[in-house]
Amino acid sequence: MNFKINESATKLRGGYYTPEDVARYLAKWVLGIKPRTILEPSCGDGAFIRALKGQHRFRLSFTGVELLNEEARKSRKACKENDLIDGEIVAGDFLDWGLKSIEEGTQFSAILGNPPYIRYQYLAPQDQILSEELFVKFCLAFTKHTNAWVPFVIASVAMLEAGGRLGMVVPAEILHVLHATSLRKFLLTQCSKIVIVDPNELLFDEALQGTVLLMVEKKKKPASASQGVAVLTGSKEDLLCEEPEELFNNAKPVSGDMLNGKWMKVLLTPRELEVFESAKHKKGVRLFRDVASVDVGIVTGANKFFLVNDETVKEYGLKRYAKPMFGRSGHCPGVIYDREGHTNKNEGGTASNFVMIGNVPMEELPEKVQDYIKFGEEQNLHKRYKCRIRSPWYSVPSVYSTEVAMLKRAHNYPRLILNSARAYTTDTAYRIKTVDPSIQPESLVYGFVNSLTALTGELEGRHYGGGVLEMVPSEIEKMLVPIVNISESDLRRLDLLVRSNEAADDVLRAQDKIVLKAAGFTKEEAAILHEAWRRIRSRRLREVHQEKGDSISDE
Ligand SMILES: C[S@@+](CC[C@H](N)C(=O)[O-])C[C@H]1O[C@@H](n2cnc3c(N)ncnc32)[C@H](O)[C@@H]1O
Repeated sequence: MNFKINESATKLRGGYYTPEDVARYLAKWVLGIKPRTILEPSCGDGAFIRALKGQHRFRLSFTGVELLNEEARKSRKACKENDLIDGEIVAGDFLDWGLKSIEEGTQFSAILGNPPYIRYQYLAPQDQILSEELFVKFCLAFTKHTNAWVPFVIASVAMLEAGGRLGMVVPAEILHVLHATSLRKFLLTQCSKIVIVDPNELLFDEALQGTVLLMVEKKKKPASASQGVAVLTGSKEDLLCEEPEELFNNAKPVSGDMLNGKWMKVLLTPRELEVFESAKHKKGVRLFRDVASVDVGIVTGANKFFLVNDETVKEYGLKRYAKPMFGRSGHCPGVIYDREGHTNKNEGGTASNFVMIGNVPMEELPEKVQDYIKFGEEQNLHKRYKCRIRSPWYSVPSVYSTEVAMLKRAHNYPRLILNSARAYTTDTAYRIKTVDPSIQPESLVYGFVNSLTALTGELEGRHYGGGVLEMVPSEIEKMLVPIVNISESDLRRLDLLVRSNEAADDVLRAQDKIVLKAAGFTKEEAAILHEAWRRIRSRRLREVHQEKGDSISDE
């Protein structure tokens, strides 16, 4: 877990400034409507004020807000250096200023910016309250998982005049994070057209966070329908050399049901989308939730105490209590976790024994085991929240294993693991049970490795800086899985293939030939699904030019 105290001052105020070419591009686009007034909600040292210079011949009134006095001063100086700008820079909190301005009915013809990226827990208590107030004001569902940039964009859009333009640098996660669902809905109700420019390269060297350019035009009539959302991808150089006016006007938006929830499907080409949508109706393809249930793994509350290597088992006489357990892909590099694999792993000193003492009073336990518990208490592990709410603290609840498991995180593609060893899993993995008696666990594990399922993982899952794909149960339930009949040797062969150094692309292509063919896809359709998966996976790993993802193993 990250703590506020460990974060740099720059990160805590979201102080990553916009590169000149990007700021000039967005400025040029909003200037296309000859705005009388421009707002910059968090103007920093004035990147967007400088970006306006030389791009307009008319007077405009510029209002900037910036939390830091020092940076606000730099913005004032930037205003003075542009004779055509009447500038007002407010040194203060935008959420506070914004809510009051919305109340007073203040509006702007255009808005530019790059709002701070600060997680809710790191916000000043006042900003936490103001963020929630803003959501409530516009009847939007609020969550404490929000991040400062979300209320900044909501307030900005609210202050935009009818027909006005907003050009902002925002995190690429706008397309998929759950906490931006309200914002996505708000944009669709308020804007006539939404264009997201999604360059292959990272825009900021300093931040791991992928960013996109958000270009929206506010509806002229509130009741009119939105044209929807377009996402433009390509190299930054190619995208920014196009005239912003043309880029925006030529972008073809998609609308309708596809925009409910996440917007990841907008990244698919029309043909990819057609094949993807038809997949649900193929005879052999099932929705994950119709064939299996997903439950979180075992929450020990202190993995370093409950998950130990053979040496610790020996030292504290824990053999009776040691049960096989896994939770990292290094523990199970293939699709089968069996006794043999478990034993080999332990010989390497891996901590894969779960100390399952159970609800036995301390005094009834052997002395060495008591010593081990005391050793845990010396480290205050019994005071940790998850441990202290149970009695005795070393008795872990909800201990059961399932025949199939799935790691929460993956680099290339998610995979299921046949748990032949009936090992327990930590909360870094899910416990999966087939709910359709006609489907063998082996078939589910086998059918899960293919380009269609991997693509649904990319479209439904989430990822953060660093690119690791993470899936929660409700997202896994929406995945599509072709179900095929297989023999035991088929699964063994797949296990070896996944364990081998074979590139992820080749593993999926080999599986597509069997799994997607059996599910009724043509070769052309399989190739289309594969290419769509490859592109979106590459986007997540931001490696289009480097093509190094295949050498990255799962976490
Ligand atoms: C990502 S930087 C962008 C700065 C500038 N807009 C640019 O594009 O270069 C975000 C800025 O927001 C400022 N900031 C953070 N919290 C703020 C708040 N509550 N109100 C106003 N500004 C804030 C930071 O100090 C920082 O200068």
